[in-house]
Amino acid sequence: MQIKDLRFKQFINKSEIQDVVRKLAATLNEDYRDKSPLFLPVLNGSFIFASDLIKQIEVPCKVSFVKVASYNGTASSGQLKTLIGLEESLFNQDVLIVEDIVDTGLTLQKITEELRALGTRSVEVVALLRKKPAREKQVSVKYVGMDIDDEFVLGYGLDYDGLGRNLKEIYKALT
Ligand code: IMP
Ligand code: MG
Repeated sequence: MQIKDLRFKQFINKSEIQDVVRKLAATLNEDYRDKSPLFLPVLNGSFIFASDLIKQIEVPCKVSFVKVASYNGTASSGQLKTLIGLEESLFNQDVLIVEDIVDTGLTLQKITEELRALGTRSVEVVALLRKKPAREKQVSVKYVGMDIDDEFVLGYGLDYDGLGRNLKEIYKALT
């Protein structure tokens, strides 16, 4: 499959994705069984993952979307903007940030810092995918769906210059 200048091949199929999401949901249902977390999916990339995940959450929970832009093309720009879209009071709240993918971890670091400053009771991260750089830098992500190498992926919410979010499977770029 070709998108703009990049060729992609299928990497993670629909049923593998659903298995990963189901396992994450089961763990969260267990860990948060006496709590009422606020899910904070980070737009745009996590919208499909967040939807599939939250449908399987069985504890009382709230959902509110946030946004932070930090990426151009296939390389992290390192240009971080501030967190926008927060409407809820987060005081004493157990917060679960929902991310599509953690690469350098810069995005998460920024978001977690801002959230902790708001008097949250706890801030944890649930990410569908984690790339190698995040593991090397020991970015703390408590709930990880799948670890992948340092490769560019798209589909299931993830994009390449805005395209490919609608794909049901996850693809990786051929080098
Ligand atoms: P980080 O700040 O470097 O961890 O980048 C995280 C954000 O960059 C993610 O939330 C994604 O939106 C985007 N991103 C990182 N890697 C990829 C990729 O392989 N495909 C599509 N988007 C990516
Ligand atoms: Mg994202």
